[in-house]
Amino acid sequence: MLWLNKYLRNVKIRVKFNIFLMLIFIIGISLSGTALSAVLQYRAKEELTSKAMILFATVNSVRNYTQQRVNPLLLPKLETESAFIPEAIPTFSVREVFENIRSDEEYKNFFYKDAALNPTNLRDKADEFETQLVEEFRSHPQNKQRFDFRNLSEGKVFYVARPFVVQEQKCLQCHSTPAIAPKSLLTSYGSEHGFGWKLNEIVAVQILYVPAEEIFNSVRRSFYLVIGVFIGVFVIIILTTNLLLKEAVIHRIRKIAKTAQEVSTGNMDADFTEQSKDEIGALAVAFNRMKCSLKISMKLLNEKKSY
Ligand code: HEC
Repeated sequence: MLWLNKYLRNVKIRVKFNIFLMLIFIIGISLSGTALSAVLQYRAKEELTSKAMILFATVNSVRNYTQQRVNPLLLPKLETESAFIPEAIPTFSVREVFENIRSDEEYKNFFYKDAALNPTNLRDKADEFETQLVEEFRSHPQNKQRFDFRNLSEGKVFYVARPFVVQEQKCLQCHSTPAIAPKSLLTSYGSEHGFGWKLNEIVAVQILYVPAEEIFNSVRRSFYLVIGVFIGVFVIIILTTNLLLKEAVIHRIRKIAKTAQEVSTGNMDADFTEQSKDEIGALAVAFNRMKCSLKISMKLLNEKKSY
C-alpha cells in the first residue's frame, strides 16, 4: 500500500481520479456481472423446469388414461388377434401423443422416451447416457428424480428423468418370459428382447428433454444488453468527470499557478482573476490579498532603503 501512496503522490489529479474510477468500474462490473449471470441462469433453469414439469404431468396422465381406460378394452383382443395392438400399451400411446406434439414446429426439439435397458420395442432402447441414468437410479434407489443439462447434436437440452419401476405382478405377463406372453406380442416384437424383467426392478427411465439453446441465447442477449448499458453509463460518468475536473478545477488552478509565477518574477500587475465564489475563487482572492501585502511590504522596504 505504501508504494501506491508514493506513486499517487506523483501523479496528476486527473490520472488519480481516473485510476479510482476505473477501479470502481472493474469491481462494479465484475460484481454485478457475476450476480446478473447467476440470476439469469437461475431464472432460465426455473423456466425450463416448469416447462418440463407440465409436460411430465401430461405424459403421465396419458399413461394413466391408457392404462385404466384403453388397456382393459383391448386386453381380450391381444389374445385373439394375430398382430399385437400397441394402442393398449401406455408407453406406446405416450410416445405417439408426444410425436403429435413434436409435429408442431415450436415443439419439434422436445422429446420424451421410456428409455429401457432391455426394451420390447427397440425404439425405446436407452442410449449410453440414459443407460448411465438407469444405473445411477439403481444404485441410489432413494433418488426419485433428476434434472440437468445434456449436450446433443441439436444443441444443449434440459432433461428431467425419473426411474421406471415394475410395480405390479401383471406386468410380468409380457415382460418376464416369452412362454407366458400373448402370441401376438411375440409375432409383432419377437422373443429376444423386453423379457427377463423382475418385480420392483428399475427397468427404465422416463426421460423428457426440453431444448435449452433458445433460452440460453436469450439469457445471453439480456446479459450483454445490461452489461452494455452498464459500460455505457460508466463511460459517460468517466467522460463528464474528466470534463468537469478540467473545466472546474485543473484549468483554473493552472491559471492561478501561472499568475503566481509571474508575480514571483516581479510582475506586480498580474492579477489573480476569478469570477466564481467557490473554493478556487476564494484561493484567488487570498492570493490577490497576499500580492497586495507583498506590494506594500516591498514599497516600505524600498522607502527605507532610500533614506
Ligand atoms: C400385454 C402385454 C404387456 C403388459 C401386460 C405390459 N406391457 Fe409393457 N410393453 C408391452 C409392449 C408390447 C411394449 C412395447 C410397446 C411399443 O411398441 O412401444 C411395452 C413397453 C413397455 C415399456 C417401454 C420399454 C419397452 O419395453 O419398449 C415399459 C417401461 C413397460 N412396457 C412397462 C410395463 C409395466 C410397468 C407394465 C405393468 C404395469 C407393463 N409394461 C405391462 C407389453 C406389455
